[in-house]
Amino acid sequence: MKKRKIKRKVKILLIVIFITFLIICLTNSNNKGQVIEVEQINKYKYILVNKENKLNKDFKPNNLVEVKKCSEGNFYLEEETAEAYQQMCLNSIKAGLNIRISSAYRSYKEQIKLYNEYLKLYGKDYVDKYVAVAGYSEHQTGLAIDLKSLDYENFKNSKEYLWIKENSHNYGFIIRYPDGKEKITGYSAEEWHIRYVGKEVAKYIYENDITFEEYYNLFLK
Ligand code: DAL
Ligand code: ZN
Repeated sequence: MKKRKIKRKVKILLIVIFITFLIICLTNSNNKGQVIEVEQINKYKYILVNKENKLNKDFKPNNLVEVKKCSEGNFYLEEETAEAYQQMCLNSIKAGLNIRISSAYRSYKEQIKLYNEYLKLYGKDYVDKYVAVAGYSEHQTGLAIDLKSLDYENFKNSKEYLWIKENSHNYGFIIRYPDGKEKITGYSAEEWHIRYVGKEVAKYIYENDITFEEYYNLFLK
Protein backbone atom coordinates (compact mmCIF):
# COMPACT_ATOMS: atom_id res chain seq x y z
CA MET A 1 0.00 0.00 0.00
CA LYS A 2 2.78 2.42 1.01
CA LYS A 3 4.72 1.56 -2.16
CA ARG A 4 1.73 2.35 -4.37
CA LYS A 5 1.31 5.74 -2.64
CA ILE A 6 4.97 6.59 -3.21
CA LYS A 7 4.69 5.56 -6.86
CA ARG A 8 1.67 7.86 -7.33
CA LYS A 9 3.50 10.76 -5.68
CA VAL A 10 6.53 10.25 -7.94
CA LYS A 11 4.24 10.12 -10.96
CA ILE A 12 2.55 13.40 -9.99
CA LEU A 13 5.92 15.03 -9.32
CA LEU A 14 7.20 13.95 -12.74
CA ILE A 15 4.09 15.35 -14.43
CA VAL A 16 4.50 18.68 -12.58
CA ILE A 17 8.18 18.85 -13.58
CA PHE A 18 7.30 18.09 -17.21
CA ILE A 19 4.55 20.75 -17.33
CA THR A 20 6.84 23.34 -15.73
CA PHE A 21 9.57 22.52 -18.25
CA LEU A 22 7.07 22.86 -21.11
CA ILE A 23 5.85 26.26 -19.84
CA ILE A 24 9.44 27.56 -19.50
CA CYS A 25 10.27 26.41 -23.05
CA LEU A 26 7.16 28.03 -24.54
CA THR A 27 7.64 31.31 -22.65
CA ASN A 28 11.28 31.54 -23.74
CA SER A 29 10.51 30.90 -27.38
CA ASN A 30 7.76 33.59 -27.30
CA ASN A 31 10.08 36.11 -25.68
CA LYS A 32 12.77 35.49 -28.28
CA GLY A 33 10.27 36.08 -31.09
CA GLN A 34 9.07 39.32 -29.57
CA VAL A 35 12.56 40.74 -28.98
CA ILE A 36 13.57 40.13 -32.59
CA GLU A 37 10.44 41.83 -33.87
CA VAL A 38 10.93 44.93 -31.72
CA GLU A 39 14.60 45.17 -32.75
CA GLN A 40 13.68 44.90 -36.40
CA ILE A 41 11.06 47.64 -36.12
CA ASN A 42 13.49 49.93 -34.31
CA LYS A 43 16.25 49.29 -36.81
CA TYR A 44 14.11 49.68 -39.93
CA LYS A 45 14.14 53.48 -39.85
CA TYR A 46 17.97 53.39 -40.00
CA ILE A 47 18.13 51.46 -43.28
CA LEU A 48 20.62 52.96 -45.75
CA VAL A 49 19.47 52.99 -49.34
CA ASN A 50 21.61 54.93 -51.81
CA LYS A 51 23.62 54.48 -55.02
CA GLU A 52 25.69 51.77 -53.29
CA ASN A 53 23.00 50.06 -51.22
CA LYS A 54 20.18 48.35 -53.04
CA LEU A 55 16.82 46.81 -52.14
CA ASN A 56 15.57 43.56 -53.61
CA LYS A 57 13.01 44.06 -56.39
CA ASP A 58 10.41 42.17 -54.35
CA PHE A 59 11.02 44.21 -51.21
CA LYS A 60 7.86 45.86 -49.86
CA PRO A 61 7.29 47.03 -46.26
CA ASN A 62 4.48 45.00 -44.67
CA ASN A 63 3.18 47.92 -42.61
CA LEU A 64 2.23 50.49 -45.25
CA VAL A 65 -0.69 52.73 -44.32
CA GLU A 66 -2.52 55.38 -46.30
CA VAL A 67 -1.73 58.96 -45.27
CA LYS A 68 -4.90 60.80 -44.40
CA LYS A 69 -3.71 64.25 -43.31
CA CYS A 70 -1.84 66.84 -45.43
CA SER A 71 -2.25 64.49 -48.34
CA GLU A 72 -4.41 64.66 -51.44
CA GLY A 73 -4.43 61.41 -53.39
CA ASN A 74 -3.51 57.86 -52.44
CA PHE A 75 -0.16 58.03 -50.73
CA TYR A 76 1.21 55.24 -48.56
CA LEU A 77 3.99 55.27 -45.96
CA GLU A 78 5.48 52.91 -43.42
CA GLU A 79 3.31 53.17 -40.28
CA GLU A 80 5.67 55.08 -37.96
CA THR A 81 6.61 57.48 -40.77
CA ALA A 82 2.94 58.13 -41.56
CA GLU A 83 2.21 58.84 -37.88
CA ALA A 84 5.18 61.26 -37.61
CA TYR A 85 4.21 63.01 -40.85
CA GLN A 86 0.62 63.51 -39.71
CA GLN A 87 1.78 64.93 -36.38
CA MET A 88 4.08 67.33 -38.25
CA CYS A 89 1.23 68.19 -40.60
CA LEU A 90 -1.08 69.21 -37.72
CA ASN A 91 1.51 71.60 -36.32
CA SER A 92 2.34 73.02 -39.76
CA ILE A 93 -1.36 73.85 -40.21
CA LYS A 94 -1.28 75.70 -36.87
CA ALA A 95 1.67 77.67 -38.28
CA GLY A 96 -0.53 78.65 -41.25
CA LEU A 97 1.16 76.39 -43.81
CA ASN A 98 -0.12 74.29 -46.69
CA ILE A 99 2.13 71.24 -46.99
CA ARG A 100 1.11 68.34 -49.22
CA ILE A 101 2.65 65.11 -50.49
CA SER A 102 3.69 64.76 -54.12
CA SER A 103 5.15 61.24 -53.74
CA ALA A 104 5.57 58.70 -50.94
CA TYR A 105 6.00 54.90 -51.12
CA ARG A 106 6.94 53.73 -54.63
CA SER A 107 7.24 50.11 -55.61
CA TYR A 108 10.19 48.81 -57.65
CA LYS A 109 7.97 48.76 -60.74
CA GLU A 110 6.76 52.33 -60.18
CA GLN A 111 10.36 53.48 -59.82
CA ILE A 112 11.26 51.87 -63.18
CA LYS A 113 8.36 53.72 -64.80
CA LEU A 114 9.33 57.04 -63.20
CA TYR A 115 13.00 56.62 -64.13
CA ASN A 116 12.14 55.90 -67.78
CA GLU A 117 9.72 58.84 -67.98
CA TYR A 118 12.32 61.29 -66.65
CA LEU A 119 15.03 59.77 -68.82
CA LYS A 120 12.89 60.35 -71.90
CA LEU A 121 11.91 63.87 -70.85
CA TYR A 122 15.20 65.23 -69.46
CA GLY A 123 18.02 62.84 -70.42
CA LYS A 124 20.68 60.77 -68.66
CA ASP A 125 22.55 63.67 -66.97
CA TYR A 126 19.34 64.73 -65.25
CA VAL A 127 18.29 61.29 -64.01
CA ASP A 128 21.79 60.60 -62.69
CA LYS A 129 21.42 63.68 -60.48
CA TYR A 130 17.78 63.39 -59.43
CA VAL A 131 16.24 59.96 -59.98
CA ALA A 132 17.29 56.65 -58.47
CA VAL A 133 17.48 53.49 -60.53
CA ALA A 134 14.84 50.99 -59.34
CA GLY A 135 16.02 49.16 -56.22
CA TYR A 136 18.20 52.12 -55.18
CA SER A 137 15.36 54.45 -54.19
CA GLU A 138 14.47 55.26 -50.58
CA HIS A 139 10.88 55.61 -51.74
CA GLN A 140 10.69 51.81 -51.89
CA THR A 141 11.20 51.71 -48.11
CA GLY A 142 8.09 53.79 -47.30
CA LEU A 143 10.31 56.07 -45.19
CA ALA A 144 10.70 58.87 -47.77
CA ILE A 145 8.29 61.64 -48.77
CA ASP A 146 8.41 64.26 -51.53
CA LEU A 147 6.68 67.42 -50.38
CA LYS A 148 5.03 70.28 -52.18
CA SER A 149 3.44 73.57 -51.21
CA LEU A 150 -0.11 74.42 -52.22
CA ASP A 151 0.89 78.07 -52.52
CA TYR A 152 4.23 77.99 -54.35
CA GLU A 153 5.26 76.31 -57.58
CA ASN A 154 8.89 76.01 -56.47
CA PHE A 155 9.13 74.28 -53.09
CA LYS A 156 12.59 75.77 -52.42
CA ASN A 157 11.07 79.28 -52.41
CA SER A 158 8.11 78.40 -50.20
CA LYS A 159 7.46 79.28 -46.58
CA GLU A 160 6.59 75.59 -46.19
CA TYR A 161 10.19 74.65 -47.05
CA LEU A 162 11.62 77.19 -44.59
CA TRP A 163 9.48 75.66 -41.84
CA ILE A 164 10.33 72.07 -42.83
CA LYS A 165 14.04 72.93 -42.86
CA GLU A 166 13.96 74.27 -39.30
CA ASN A 167 11.33 72.01 -37.72
CA SER A 168 11.08 68.61 -39.41
CA HIS A 169 13.83 67.10 -37.19
CA ASN A 170 11.47 67.54 -34.22
CA TYR A 171 9.25 64.93 -35.86
CA GLY A 172 12.08 62.59 -36.91
CA PHE A 173 12.68 63.80 -40.49
CA ILE A 174 15.80 64.97 -42.30
CA ILE A 175 16.32 66.78 -45.61
CA ARG A 176 17.96 63.80 -47.24
CA TYR A 177 19.77 65.47 -50.17
CA PRO A 178 21.04 68.85 -48.97
CA ASP A 179 22.72 71.46 -51.13
CA GLY A 180 26.51 71.13 -51.26
CA LYS A 181 26.54 67.44 -50.22
CA GLU A 182 26.14 65.92 -53.69
CA LYS A 183 29.48 64.14 -53.50
CA ILE A 184 28.37 62.31 -50.35
CA THR A 185 24.72 61.57 -51.11
CA GLY A 186 25.17 60.99 -54.85
CA TYR A 187 22.28 63.34 -55.71
CA SER A 188 21.81 67.06 -56.39
CA ALA A 189 19.94 69.08 -53.78
CA GLU A 190 16.32 67.96 -53.35
CA GLU A 191 14.69 70.32 -50.84
CA TRP A 192 11.42 68.45 -51.18
CA HIS A 193 12.66 64.94 -50.30
CA ILE A 194 12.49 64.18 -46.58
CA ARG A 195 13.38 60.90 -44.93
CA TYR A 196 12.18 59.50 -41.60
CA VAL A 197 15.00 58.38 -39.26
CA GLY A 198 13.39 59.00 -35.84
CA LYS A 199 13.75 62.06 -33.59
CA GLU A 200 17.10 61.24 -32.00
CA VAL A 201 19.00 60.71 -35.26
CA ALA A 202 17.23 63.58 -37.03
CA LYS A 203 18.18 66.00 -34.24
CA TYR A 204 21.85 64.93 -34.40
CA ILE A 205 21.96 65.27 -38.20
CA TYR A 206 20.27 68.69 -38.04
CA GLU A 207 22.48 70.05 -35.27
CA ASN A 208 25.72 68.79 -36.81
CA ASP A 209 24.77 69.65 -40.41
CA ILE A 210 25.72 66.23 -41.76
CA THR A 211 24.12 63.77 -44.17
CA PHE A 212 22.59 60.40 -43.34
CA GLU A 213 25.58 58.71 -45.04
CA GLU A 214 27.93 60.48 -42.62
CA TYR A 215 25.78 59.60 -39.61
CA TYR A 216 25.53 55.99 -40.80
CA ASN A 217 29.31 55.69 -41.14
CA LEU A 218 29.82 57.19 -37.68
CA PHE A 219 27.23 55.28 -35.68
CA LEU A 220 25.33 52.62 -37.57
CA LYS A 221 27.84 50.75 -39.69
N1 DAL B 1 14.77 61.32 -56.13
C1 DAL B 1 15.31 60.25 -55.34
C2 DAL B 1 16.79 60.18 -55.40
C3 DAL B 1 14.69 58.92 -55.73
O1 DAL B 1 14.36 58.75 -56.91
O2 DAL B 1 14.58 58.06 -54.89
ZN1 ZN C 1 11.96 61.74 -53.23
